[in-house]
Formats: sequence, C-alpha cells, structure tokens
Amino acid sequence: MHLDNGKEDLICGEDMSNEEHLISKGLAILIEDNIISKIKPEEELIEEFLPSFNRKIEKSTKICMNKINDTLVTQVGRNSIIPGLIDSHTHLLWDGDRSNEVSLRMKGMSYSEISKAGGGITYTVNETRKSTDETLAKLGKERLKEALRNGTTALEAKSGYGLTTESELKLTSIMNDLSIDETNPSIDITWMGAHDIPKGKEKADYIEELINKQIPEITSQGYARNCDVFCEPGWFTIEETERIIENASNSGLSIRLHVDEFKDGGGADLAAKKGVDTADHALYSNDDARENMSKANVIQGFLPGAPYTMGLDKWPPIKQCIENNQPWTIATDFNPNCRILSIPSIASICVQKLGINPLATLCAATRNAGISVLHRTEKPHGIIKEGYVANMNILNGEKWEGWCLQQGSSPFKATILEGSTVIHTIT
Ligand code: NIG
Ligand code: FE
Repeated sequence: MHLDNGKEDLICGEDMSNEEHLISKGLAILIEDNIISKIKPEEELIEEFLPSFNRKIEKSTKICMNKINDTLVTQVGRNSIIPGLIDSHTHLLWDGDRSNEVSLRMKGMSYSEISKAGGGITYTVNETRKSTDETLAKLGKERLKEALRNGTTALEAKSGYGLTTESELKLTSIMNDLSIDETNPSIDITWMGAHDIPKGKEKADYIEELINKQIPEITSQGYARNCDVFCEPGWFTIEETERIIENASNSGLSIRLHVDEFKDGGGADLAAKKGVDTADHALYSNDDARENMSKANVIQGFLPGAPYTMGLDKWPPIKQCIENNQPWTIATDFNPNCRILSIPSIASICVQKLGINPLATLCAATRNAGISVLHRTEKPHGIIKEGYVANMNILNGEKWEGWCLQQGSSPFKATILEGSTVIHTIT
C-alpha cells in the first residue's frame, strides 16, 4: 500500500481507488536517516544491501526484528503496510470537560445555543486559561500517544482556546515543545486566535487585537506556520475573516479555514477566492463553491466526526467530490466536543456508513493530507516512496482493508515513526 502512482500532487477522483497503481506486493524498504532511501523487490534489496542475511519466508503474522551488522532488519510477516496517517485538523491542546453538553443537546439545544449559554468554546477557554503549562503539556503528550497508537505519525494542531495574546502564545509554545520531541508525531502548528470572541470583549476590539497584536507576536515567536479562522455565521463573518487572513497571509502565515459547518455562510466561496490551503468541515457548502475551490486547488477537509459526535444526520458529500474530481481529505477534528483521536475510526464512518472506497479514504488521510500538513523535517510524507519520511503502519493482518473497519481499538500492530519501530502489540 505505497500509494505511489508516480505523481506527488493531490490525488482525486477514480485515481484514488486505483489498486493497480497504488498497491504492490513483495517489496522491501530501506530506511536511512529517517528517510525511505530504496524500495525494491525483497530479494534484490537483500542481495544489494545485506547479502549475509539469511531470509526465511515468513508465514506467520509476527513481527520479527534482528540486528545484522549495523542494520536493523524488521520482518513484518504477512501483515500489510500502509503509510503513516496524517491528521490534518485537530484542536490538540485544551483543559476541561464538556461531557455534560450531550444532555443539553438532547434537551434540544444547538451548538450555538450552548455556546451563548456559556458552554462550548467559552467554557473550554476558561478552563484552559486556568490550567498550568505542565498540565497542558501532559495532556498534549497523552493525546499524541493515543494518536500514535492509532497510526497517526503527523498532525496539524490549532491554538484557539486561549484567546488572549499571552495564552495563545503559550499554547503554540507548548505545541512546539511537543513537536520537537521525536517520540511524538510531528506537529504543524496553526494559530487560531479567531476561534471565538472572548467573553467581556467587543468583537471589533478583539479583531483589532488579532490584527495588531496577536499576528505580529505569533509570527515573531515563529512556532505557528498557519492561521485558521472560524468563518461561520454567529462567529466571524466573511468580511472579518477576509481581513484577518489577509493580514495573516501578509505576515507569512499559510491559511486554512473552518467553513460552512452549520450553514452555507459563503465560507467556501471565500476559501476559493483566496486560494487557501484547505477549507474544513465544508458540510453545507454549495456545489458551485466546491467547484471553484477545486479549480483553485483548495482541499475540502471533511470532518465527519463533528456531525457524528453532535448526533446530526448530515454527512459530507464525499461521493460527489470523487465524481467531480475534487481534492479532499479526512481528519478527526479532535476537540472537547469531538474526542476522537483515531483516523481509522473516522475512516470507518466514511467507509462503513457513507460507502466510500477504503483505498480512496486512505489516500485522503495520507498523501492528500500530507500536502497541507508540513512535516517537521520539511521532507515530503504520506506516501511510501523514495525520498519520503519513513512513516508507516504495520497492520494487524494480511488484508489492507482492515485499516478502516475498526472502532474503539487500533488496527495496527506497530508504527514506524521516522524510521523507529514502535511496537503496539506483541501478538
Ligand atoms: O471544528 N467549530 C469550531 N471549532 C471546533 C469545535 C470547537 C469546540 O466546540 O470546542 C470544530 O468543530
Ligand atoms: Fe475544528
């Protein structure tokens, strides 16, 4: 499951499920300095690089590791290998518990009504501001471990639960520390000061703060590469979003957006006009806007965990996107309201509920996600290909389709994170 069809750009339409081009058997992979340096038929690679290695044909599904001279040989048995998963949309760092909101929703309150009553993002902001750096770092570490256990080798993570210059800088700084630690998945950091309007502030004043204080301080701190805005009726309007992202972009930040999560507010049209990297949720976007985004190479970042956790029966139009050859990804949207850190769980919704092809779903969560998420090495990732970061998952079984058919536990036996094998289960 190398997903290498000879091209490196976004993969769309039927190409995403072309098994002949994207899957091979019997290949061996040489890793040097955390990068895939050679992929060849097993016998040829052994002959060329490790002639002293006496290969036994492995019939079992056990993973076997041996040191031969200076080379660590990992035999994966009959298990399938897929690229490391890339979670292109998470709200990783926050403190506090909003489990009670499930009951409010069942009493008929909407996300927006809960938010107006002091729940939602406001509640998490208060809890996060009260939390210590140590606690937030520990929470981040635990969440990254869980993501890695579920095959995520790189992710995008947003600030946005501080909403003051100081607390936003604190969140990006903790994320930077977490990303430097190579035992964690790599993090591409996004500043999302425009996630909500902090209580006690006028919106117009807060927007001035975002533009004149947060953007300059965030860019001089240098940890965030991207900017995201919650462009949604009731939060930031099209005009406000445009002003914020123009300033962020002029300061060197790449732009991603939350658009049309609860209604078609024109967010996708703005995303197309501005040619942003990715327009996420895009649940209620209109067909013309989707087509315009595609023409502008804007990815539709689908987050089916959001309607799933909110009990809504509204799903992203992934089939239509495939028919129209438009680029798309899937991600978890991990946040206090959607506590899913597993891409395979999200993929199971796509495949088992929405009927999307499992190979196409894998392309969305690996090579397409790798286009909008920069790896900490700045090397390409998301495909098992020479020159790419050596991030891979060893499945618990022979049939590759098993990667996306499991809720509640991980389908992986081991994850290779930048060349180092992390064993999840010994059986
Ligand atoms: O992507 N919609 C905005 N942000 C998150 C939810 C944040 C929250 O509820 O805390 C999202 O769904
Ligand atoms: Fe989100």
